[in-house]
Amino acid sequence: KLRLGVLLSGRGSNFLAIANNIRSGALPNVEIAIVLSNIADAPAIAAARQLNLPTKVHVSKGRPRAEHDRDMLATLRENNVDLVILAGYMRLLSPEFIHAFPTRILNIHPSLLPAFPGLDAQTQAFEYGVKIAGCTVHFVDEHLDHGVMILQRAIPVLDTDDAHSLAERILAEEHQAYSEAIARVASGQYEIDGRRYMKRV
Ligand code: GAR
Repeated sequence: KLRLGVLLSGRGSNFLAIANNIRSGALPNVEIAIVLSNIADAPAIAAARQLNLPTKVHVSKGRPRAEHDRDMLATLRENNVDLVILAGYMRLLSPEFIHAFPTRILNIHPSLLPAFPGLDAQTQAFEYGVKIAGCTVHFVDEHLDHGVMILQRAIPVLDTDDAHSLAERILAEEHQAYSEAIARVASGQYEIDGRRYMKRV
């Protein structure tokens, strides 16, 4: 089984959706090796403990990125992680970290990239006035919310939406999209063509 290292900073609803899909058998080829947070009281860590999953916190506040990332890497290696899953991990990764897992780090972002990278993407999209919104799962490179895309899911912005309701409907898509992307990567049935394209083979 492919061993996942889940990195998060907060609520962890994407992590929980993945954990549920593993438990129900919808993701048969993967298991969660470790849940890792950079925030001490991330609600997701308590949720992971309740599921009897291994957890670890490396507090990032006030520490140089390279040094903190080295601790994170060491924990991932100790736990024999094959694939790193960023699930609301709200911190940039150092180049050293990214190069340690080449095309083995996935991120989910609540916009149709390359539009609206960064914080509060759903509010950015809503305030811009887009008519189609969505989420993206992608391999991670050195840039923020950037890298070869695995899949995207789109939803219409409704006239009745506000930023909150839009974010909720995007989140529902995220919960399906992330497991689908992980399954695709776990299957190994893909190739990355140059710097941009990921396609089925
Ligand atoms: C999700 O909406 C995720 O797409 C977003 O943070 C939220 C985490 O929620 N990530 C980013 O904005 C990355 N730039 P969760 O903790 O409930 O999964």
